Amino acid sequence: MLQNDLQETLFTEEQILRRIQELAREIEKNYKGKNLVLVSILKGGVVFLADLTREVRIPHAYDLVGASSYGAQIYSTGQVIITKDVTVPLKGKHVLLIEDIYDSGTTLKVVKDLLDVHSPASVEICALLWKEKKKRRHEIPIKYIGFKIPDVFVVGYGLDYNEKYRNLRCIGVLKPEIYS
Ligand code: IMP
Ligand code: MG
Repeated sequence: MLQNDLQETLFTEEQILRRIQELAREIEKNYKGKNLVLVSILKGGVVFLADLTREVRIPHAYDLVGASSYGAQIYSTGQVIITKDVTVPLKGKHVLLIEDIYDSGTTLKVVKDLLDVHSPASVEICALLWKEKKKRRHEIPIKYIGFKIPDVFVVGYGLDYNEKYRNLRCIGVLKPEIYS
């Protein structure tokens, strides 16, 4: 069982879904009457996107960009490669960038710069997890935050270690012996 590789569960499926409902209510209020596009980041953000898009009950589009930073390691390399751009035209639209986790900030910086090239009316960020860090490569304003977590390596709900654990319904801390 994947669950056995966890040292601790931080958020259960129920807690995550309840928090997503709260975020969705805020998003509905702030984007009512606006042309909204949710843009998520492959691959970690898609599980969050799938739940959030169905909870946001105002008309909106969604799209995906591809960005890749981590290899089979737990620290980000600081190098992010864009592997896929959006296909929905973003010009004049209100974009909400949906990401699994705000860690070093590199991925969000690179993706936000890419989105800005499409001339949207606005770009805000919604991150399910916000990692507490003393120092980040890029400080990025995150308007919607699901949960704040300590600086630990977590998996589940889209987040992987070496492509594994994305399908865990909860979010938990991986046992250190798994990656050491
Ligand atoms: P950043 O570019 O350093 O902010 O890292 C962002 C990406 O690294 C996220 O989209 C995740 O895919 C991955 N990442 C960062 N922290 C974790 C973690 O604790 N567990 C799994 N993946 C992580
Ligand atoms: Mg990853």
